[in-house]
Amino acid sequence: MDSEIFAARRPVLGICYGQHLITQLLGGSVGKGDKGEFGLATLTVDRPGRLFANTAARQQIWMSHRDVVAALPEGFSVTATTATCEMAAMEDSVRNLYGVQFHPEVVHTTHGTQLLSNFVFDICGCLKDWDPKHRGPVVEGEIRATVRDRNVFFFVSGGVDSTVAYHLCVRALGKSRVRGVYVDTGLMRDGETEFVRRLFGDAVEIESAAAEFLPPLAGTCDPEEKRRIIGERFVKVQERIIESRGLLDGHWILGQGTIYPDTIESGGTLKAAVIKTHHNRVPGIQKLIESGHIVEPLSSFYKDEVREIGRELDLPGEFLERHPFPGPGLAIRCLCSEFSLPLTRVRDDYLAPIRSVGVQGDSRSYAQVLVIDRFPSAGVKLQDVATELVNRIADINRVIARVDSIAPIAKMQVQTSALTPERIGLLRRADALVREISHESGFDRSIWQFPVVLIPLGTAEEPDSVVLRPIDSQDGMTAQSVAMDDALLRRMASELLGMGGVCGVFYDLTHKPPATIEWE
Ligand code: XMP
Repeated sequence: MDSEIFAARRPVLGICYGQHLITQLLGGSVGKGDKGEFGLATLTVDRPGRLFANTAARQQIWMSHRDVVAALPEGFSVTATTATCEMAAMEDSVRNLYGVQFHPEVVHTTHGTQLLSNFVFDICGCLKDWDPKHRGPVVEGEIRATVRDRNVFFFVSGGVDSTVAYHLCVRALGKSRVRGVYVDTGLMRDGETEFVRRLFGDAVEIESAAAEFLPPLAGTCDPEEKRRIIGERFVKVQERIIESRGLLDGHWILGQGTIYPDTIESGGTLKAAVIKTHHNRVPGIQKLIESGHIVEPLSSFYKDEVREIGRELDLPGEFLERHPFPGPGLAIRCLCSEFSLPLTRVRDDYLAPIRSVGVQGDSRSYAQVLVIDRFPSAGVKLQDVATELVNRIADINRVIARVDSIAPIAKMQVQTSALTPERIGLLRRADALVREISHESGFDRSIWQFPVVLIPLGTAEEPDSVVLRPIDSQDGMTAQSVAMDDALLRRMASELLGMGGVCGVFYDLTHKPPATIEWE
């Protein structure tokens, strides 16, 4: 950033790296901390000032950093600390410059909204003139302005976002001007195609394209490569459909259910481009966006707001509460390995050479998984144990606990494996079983999402294991691993082992950050 901004004498709030940047530009220094601090922490506010007005002296915050402010710039003083971070917040109240190491923008920072409100309305003097309710009519007006006299064509997924976007367009333009196709990639969950058929009836065509996705995916283990292949194939199928239906004659534009976090995590900021490669944003689609051939009515909304709009559109409540499911489907929940590799013993635990994705600081990390055999643990929250382990051990970003298995962990290793139809089939059955039990018990209604992941960890006879990843979240940007009821967890594990082909059932204990919700 241009440091002249400070000379303009406007209020500035630096968040996380923003605090570091202010420090660096104004003559302080930033250094490596002794420990990382990823996830929940407790903030002690020593001097509330205007930024912390109406918040508690001790409050829960969300951290994601290893670097710290080592020396303050001149004119600044520390206003809050944590046990790990001496300069968790700083200010120069004369120049109206503020910095916080933690993330006030995430839901797990309990007074975050108040802090942002203090900054925006009190310190900056902004006026409240935006109401998130009743946005439907405004968005419909925007759709009409973008689409003009053309029609809209959707690739629907059966998910909340594309369905709400589709129905908004129907309301804005009328039924006859909106068409849809559902592409069955062969990577969807059990029963998804039938679900889409029920949801849209004749308004949406079903295109079976599994043969175009599975063969090219069988040769790769690399998560980014998988996403690239899927994105590329998807665009090819889209182009074919667009051409064969004569949708390039100037009368049609493409509608998408892209929501705000998709645009941020795919490159809304320079660095975030590496956090998620999202297939609503692959180059082919990017071209359509640039040439004005796309309408994305939800691109400035978060998931909870999309659900609110869906309620305004009278979409069924049960549908709106559906858990999110990633576009690339089961492919990114089915991990593969080019090699057969042993686990490494780390004290009582095991380091598994399976690389999963994390988000640590401002970038994506690919690190190993720590496997622990401490479940159940009376009186100790295993999620806290996981947080402590990731903060201490630099080479990992995720911790899983064994729930049940047919072989001890010491006998398991990472097995050579590819993305075969058989393994996808096994994952699909495991996912369907978990969904069924989770729905029957009502557990699914208490959480945001419940990925079920297949990892190539096991014995020669039973080469794969299943990881359960129930998480809670508000917007998918941060998430907390949810503690499950012991009896429910045991039941899921025993039924999964009973399916055959599954060596072990593990439970992902890691919050986001440091681990992403999905494994790839
Ligand atoms: P992560 O794994 O980044 O996920 O913590 C955040 C949310 O985004 C979903 N997700 C995706 N959704 N296409 C999608 O449509 C994708 O490529 C994709 N990757 C992750 C994920 O399920 C979670 O809800």
